Amino acid sequence: MVHTNMQVYDDVKDILYTKEQIEQRCAELASQIDNDYKGKIPMFVGILKGCVPFMTLLYNNTKIYSTIEYVRASSYKGGTSTTGNVELDDENIDVSNRDVIIVEDIIDTGLTLEAVTKILMDKGAKSVAICTLLDKPAHRKANINVKYVGFSVEDQFLIGFGLDYNELYRNLPFICTIDPNKID
Ligand code: IMP
Ligand code: MG
Repeated sequence: MVHTNMQVYDDVKDILYTKEQIEQRCAELASQIDNDYKGKIPMFVGILKGCVPFMTLLYNNTKIYSTIEYVRASSYKGGTSTTGNVELDDENIDVSNRDVIIVEDIIDTGLTLEAVTKILMDKGAKSVAICTLLDKPAHRKANINVKYVGFSVEDQFLIGFGLDYNELYRNLPFICTIDPNKID
């Protein structure tokens, strides 16, 4: 239950990664991407809404020519576990013959990105690579290759820096666990 006289900071349990650590890691990932895509013009495709803070930092740190798009995908209908039901709200972006880099906040089962990768390949992308801020390999169900990982984490529910619980907490400037009393 959310009390509007409290703030998101009141529901934080443990901080895993500070803003400074995330900034440092984004700079490293961006220079890796700059190297890997030398001579190409990749298309960054962010998965809304969780990717936004990560995409902003990552993208600002890249130096190569590139384009940027966002699509909406959902495998969660609230709560803390995957339903396996992935929907992609295709924004009609033209990926034909493009080297796509999907940008995601966190990968859990991988079902979301398996579906998104397939859709983008079916639409004619030349290549599709995955870049995620967080990877939670413990629950992996899909056979996906994750090329860029910010931080690999244990099986726990995380919030902040774009990650939500029931659409809240995306504005926390760090990655943390949530007070268990706040989870229904
Ligand atoms: P997957 O299809 O199971 O890989 O689910 C990935 C999506 O689930 C992410 O884009 C998030 O929206 C959500 N998700 C998975 N784990 C967490 C978490 O620990 N906190 C917040 N959202 C999560
Ligand atoms: Mg997401």
